[in-house]
Amino acid sequence: MSERDTLQRRTWAIGDYRFVGARFVLAAELLCEAARLRAQESHLDVATGTGNVALAAARRAARVTAVDLVPELLAHARRRAEAEALEIDFIEGNAEALPVPDGSYDLVTSTFGVMFARDQERAAAELLRVVRPGGRIALACWTPSGYMGRMLALNAAYVTPPPGTRPESRWGTIEGLRELFGPEAGIEAVPRELWWRFAGPEEHVRAWCETYGPTVVALEALDAAGRESLVADLTELVHGLNTDGETLLMPLEYLEIVIRP
Ligand SMILES: C[S@@+](CC[C@H](N)C(=O)[O-])C[C@H]1O[C@@H](n2cnc3c(N)ncnc32)[C@H](O)[C@@H]1O
Repeated sequence: MSERDTLQRRTWAIGDYRFVGARFVLAAELLCEAARLRAQESHLDVATGTGNVALAAARRAARVTAVDLVPELLAHARRRAEAEALEIDFIEGNAEALPVPDGSYDLVTSTFGVMFARDQERAAAELLRVVRPGGRIALACWTPSGYMGRMLALNAAYVTPPPGTRPESRWGTIEGLRELFGPEAGIEAVPRELWWRFAGPEEHVRAWCETYGPTVVALEALDAAGRESLVADLTELVHGLNTDGETLLMPLEYLEIVIRP
């Protein structure tokens, strides 16, 4: 495995993605509806993490395969599937070189997953390669203007990514999707929000800094002053987006996308 992939794997194995992923379940359920998933369809979920879309599709009687780079997350996903008696084929693999044949899936999905692949063009080309002719690709991707897009940009401002790295939230824009999937692709994109609730902004930031891999890795790379400054900026961002006076009630804006290549 390349050094780049080892680093990527560590980013998502560190922290506790179970905590974060459990709060994205609604987006996975809605994506299956947006994609009009039918029973018996062959479905591939890319960068499945703890299996949110794979589980949602298996609940709808699809034939599901799910891929992720991180074995620890796949182990959690398998436990979740077992708890619901759902049959899902979980396999370890890279979104930039999917270990599946060409043109083999009616539906290929990814919620907040493939957008983190380092080589965005290669990852998009892989989604196009594995979907069958007439099939669709359905994605949920953070927008640049929402909390997650701004939080990721904040990370990048503190810990400079390798030269040539494009922001992950490029996948959450129509222009970015046109560049990645080509001008001919039929793209339907609807802005949506997940609402996050925590006891308060500080509670959210504390939990975030312990559980969300990219933030944990950024904090690790900084000295004490840098860490303090990043946490302060994050707290200010969260306060600015909070819509409630007492607790935290904050929108996470994303784009729900269905592509017909
Ligand atoms: C924010 S999580 C999303 C997980 C899940 N789709 C969800 O909605 O909860 C990002 C996921 O992308 C995976 N990932 C990142 N880069 C990847 C790559 N190149 N190939 C496969 N998986 C990757 C991570 O391991 C992680 O599970």
